[in-house]
Amino acid sequence: MKRDDVVLITGASAGIGEALAVELSSRGLRTALLARRTDRTERLAARLGGDARSLAIACDVTVEGALDEAVALTLQRFGRIDAVVANAGFGVDGALARLSLDDYRRQFETNVFGVLRTAMATRAPLAATRGVFAAVGSVSAYVSAPGASAYNMSKGAVRSLCETLNAEWAPAGVAVVHIAPGFVSSEIRKVDRKGQLREGAKDPVPGWLQLSAEAAAREIADALSARRAEAVITGHGKALVWLSRRAPAVLRQLLKLMARQARPSKGEG
Ligand SMILES: NC(=O)c1ccc[n+]([C@@H]2O[C@H](COP(=O)([O-])OP(=O)(O)OC[C@H]3O[C@@H](n4cnc5c(N)ncnc54)[C@H](OP(=O)(O)O)[C@@H]3O)[C@@H](O)[C@H]2O)c1
Repeated sequence: MKRDDVVLITGASAGIGEALAVELSSRGLRTALLARRTDRTERLAARLGGDARSLAIACDVTVEGALDEAVALTLQRFGRIDAVVANAGFGVDGALARLSLDDYRRQFETNVFGVLRTAMATRAPLAATRGVFAAVGSVSAYVSAPGASAYNMSKGAVRSLCETLNAEWAPAGVAVVHIAPGFVSSEIRKVDRKGQLREGAKDPVPGWLQLSAEAAAREIADALSARRAEAVITGHGKALVWLSRRAPAVLRQLLKLMARQARPSKGEG
């Protein structure tokens, strides 16, 4: 990626998406910032250079046609799209016994169909620039922790989509990057399974285990520049992915231990 290239990021109002917009802007890129909370993205766009360099666009990735509209606005403003990061997502937590089909559907609508809508809407402009498409999945695509089947399934689907598009879009010169972060500091663990942010909620993951969103953004930006097929972010994430590939039986035992320690209530299993 070079100076003045244009990157479109979904979920740019917080966490990893926001930090990535700041990082890519500092590397000279122009940014299209998509999210539902436009008060935040408008402030960020002003910080990243205003109208000539950055554009805030209201976009809910679960809404049909919203991505096409956002792409049209980006092309109208900047004339091209060189990179796309399908990053918008949240987590539906809870054991299967506590969840309904609607919980799974809500998870997939954002984390899977949101990424798919982003890919479909940006395929043609990316082919025009021989650009790069990245999706933010998770280490959960490799490590299926108990109590998170909806999230794990959604990230498994994102990984599979990336691997498919990696080959499918190669003839058009579009690189596809699967980003798989471990624990990164953001708002994600304060958002409930309905997708509502609970400002005062406590993050259950200890701070020492979390990589800063800024450090994660630097690694993601490097992976985009290098057009790498896969980037696992965080040391613990790399160790877990290694275990899943080299010692899956050990990982399964660890996950069973985790499930026992979580002590699910009777019948929750
Ligand atoms: N942080 C971690 O530990 C971690 C680990 C692995 C993977 N990830 C993945 O990283 C990505 C970013 O998460 P984060 O940790 O940065 O969480 P975050 O701080 O909660 O940010 C989530 C972003 O997604 C946007 N978003 C959510 N639903 C949306 C929708 N329907 N339409 C448009 N935008 C939507 C939010 O914007 P609005 O609410 O303004 O729309 C926000 O900008 C997610 O895909 C997540 O699964 C995070």
